[in-house]
Amino acid sequence: MKPLNLPGPIAKRLIERDQVVISPSYPRAYPFVMDHGRGIEVWDVDGNKFLDFAAGIAVTSTGHSHPKVVKAIQQQAEQFIHISSDFYHPKWVELAEYLDLIAPFQEDAISFMTNSGTESVEAALKLARYHTGRSQFIAFLGGFHGRTYGAVTLTASKPKYHRGFAPLMNGVTHIPFPDPYRPVLNVLPGEDIGTATIRYLEEEIFGKTVPADEVAGIVVEPIQGEGGYIVPPDNFFIQLRDVCTRNGILLIVDEVQAGMGRTGKWWSIQNFGVEPDIVVTAKGIASGMPLGAMIARKSIATWPKGSHGNTYGGNPLACAAALATLELIENEYLDNAAIVGKYVLDRLESIKLNHPSIGSVRGIGLMIGIEFVMDQISKIPAEKLRDRVEHLAFERGLLTLGCGRSVLRISPALCITQAEAENGLQILEEAITIAESENVLVSEIEDIAVEKG
Ligand SMILES: Cc1ncc(COP(=O)(O)O)c(C=O)c1O
Repeated sequence: MKPLNLPGPIAKRLIERDQVVISPSYPRAYPFVMDHGRGIEVWDVDGNKFLDFAAGIAVTSTGHSHPKVVKAIQQQAEQFIHISSDFYHPKWVELAEYLDLIAPFQEDAISFMTNSGTESVEAALKLARYHTGRSQFIAFLGGFHGRTYGAVTLTASKPKYHRGFAPLMNGVTHIPFPDPYRPVLNVLPGEDIGTATIRYLEEEIFGKTVPADEVAGIVVEPIQGEGGYIVPPDNFFIQLRDVCTRNGILLIVDEVQAGMGRTGKWWSIQNFGVEPDIVVTAKGIASGMPLGAMIARKSIATWPKGSHGNTYGGNPLACAAALATLELIENEYLDNAAIVGKYVLDRLESIKLNHPSIGSVRGIGLMIGIEFVMDQISKIPAEKLRDRVEHLAFERGLLTLGCGRSVLRISPALCITQAEAENGLQILEEAITIAESENVLVSEIEDIAVEKG
């Protein structure tokens, strides 16, 4: 395929203007300047067309501008756009009722609506402290939970999220996430990395530094997102749930990236057979309208009137978009995510056979990661190669995003067809072939040699 010459002239000019007035802190991946999108296709301002395997970081769950979502927003905008959380409105209640029906626990659910993932995490931290009267939290290395002060303290996927921002929130202890491909902890005979992680938590953390009865909550992504699309061993969450129950600790699952049908179930924790106490969500819930929610068991939501709130919580446009989104996911896309996700995973496993730079392919449903390595024995992360694959795919009309140190994530809209997925995979394989042949690996080796001096 002939590569596009990117960025085009209009995109280039816009990026120049952007650099003058927009905060330099944003992590721009490559020079894609959006003009419009439909389903899983997007066009840039120069008229170039792309397949979108990134979905705005797993956000446009029903595809770009799904007509039913657009109509719901338009109808609501004509009625009213805002009223504030001092009052009531029907769509807000309907949405909370829907979330109660799909919440991943038997008990009734109470929802607190937010505008983002990080704000949902903050709400969970505050409710957990309020309800338990305890101050401490356990979180996981590699985890990502947002960038406001409480959430960013939990976040531990890259040092840049903390550098220059201290002091962070008190009371957070990180432990390794059970990564089957790169286990950090020593695994004893008869254990897997999930069991070793639980042993470490109980013996080393509760046994030596943090009293378990001072821990309000354990905050965890059932599948790590930003940290590298890492799926823990099957039995890990059953053991973690047990630790929480025995010690009166709340299990708080961050479903911001993995939830809302992405894994073929409403919530990614449902792949692991346990019920959490609090769920935080955002991203895919409203197809791109800014909305999040903190969903708690009713018995936990003991905080009184006025103790937590926000101006935009339950914004009518966002709630209307969410209701349309949830109906589409339930009726059409949950099954599709599981079926097309399995197809993509199988195809990537066979692509891996011909590509020594692919160390691991993993995921559930349409949350799939490809980890690039220098070679499959040493497993040294091949970060530059991953970046090069991402860029070559972009030039060939495919949007993807990296995560972890050397992982490429595949997180398209849940409406993607098998044919669309196949088109994208062909572009991706071409990009991997070219990147491998360009000897990017050799330059990574040189970098490592320089780093080691
Ligand atoms: C798992 C997880 N939690 C929280 C967040 C923060 O969400 P937001 O960027 O909407 O604040 C993200 C964002 O990527 C996420 O992936």
